[in-house]
Amino acid sequence: MSSLEKNRADHKRYKEDVKREGKPFFPYALFHDSFMQVVVVAVIIGLATIWKWTAEDVGGGTNPGLLGSLYEEKADPGSTSFVPRPDWYYYFLFYLLRIFKWPDSVILGTVGIPTILLMLLLALPFIDRRRERHPLRRPVAMIAGILVIVAMGTLTWKGATAKEAVASESASAVPTWAAKQGFANDPVAMAGATLFAQSGCLTCHVYTGSGGANLGAPELTAEGSKGLGIDWQIKHLECPSCVTPGSPMPAFKALGADNLKKLATFLEASKGAK
Ligand code: HEC
Repeated sequence: MSSLEKNRADHKRYKEDVKREGKPFFPYALFHDSFMQVVVVAVIIGLATIWKWTAEDVGGGTNPGLLGSLYEEKADPGSTSFVPRPDWYYYFLFYLLRIFKWPDSVILGTVGIPTILLMLLLALPFIDRRRERHPLRRPVAMIAGILVIVAMGTLTWKGATAKEAVASESASAVPTWAAKQGFANDPVAMAGATLFAQSGCLTCHVYTGSGGANLGAPELTAEGSKGLGIDWQIKHLECPSCVTPGSPMPAFKALGADNLKKLATFLEASKGAK
């Protein structure tokens, strides 16, 4: 039998099968789909009801019920130590961002690879045109599928357990800074140094080799040698653009007077690394 004849015979058999065993779209498929949709909506309404009824609103805060609290803490626009993290189902992309570094390969990692995989998925019906559907007789497709699941699972797990290095890593540099600058015996300057490491200042400022220069922020290693004084520093931290017109540095007033004093003391104690 030629392959064309075989195809025709297969097609004929398929048509007969459909006639004998198939069900008409109306009402079977319609009923089937509508029923499932009602079930899904009912589950969502049920979950929302349980969440609303079991969680309590207790004066300001909320008691978490079975499915989480009514409200979470209010967002604090003054926070500079907030570490943004994605929802769990984006952890794999989140971790890809750590493997592919900005700016060289980040487009490849976050747009390129997922796009290539999606294109392959779309092309699959055109590439794999055999009738074989048994998993064991489709080794390439099975292995590729399993590899994708394993890769996404591993990346999700790595993303979920990834340590946020920034704040803690730079805080561990504080003793080194203190030794270089000679303020190890000044507890206020030491506290200021820790605050400095944890408040995101290093995102823009370089300090004795730590941190990155952004938005044209000056290096602060020798800030204390300018002789500006603690009061000036506090004023500048409270409202940078009031003191230095046009300054793009964010205001740190929200840290509180106590913390600003510590930061200012630390800045003034930084006379330049020896
Ligand atoms: C978003 C970037 C950014 C962040 C974050 C940032 N700064 Fe700045 N900073 C700047 C820029 C830009 C300037 C230069 C303009 C100015 O002087 O205000 C500056 C200037 C300064 C100066 C120099 C003032 C002078 O004229 O000598 C000090 C001191 C300073 N910042 C301290 C800090 C401290 C402390 C923190 C953390 C609590 C911090 N900065 C966080 C961008 C930043």
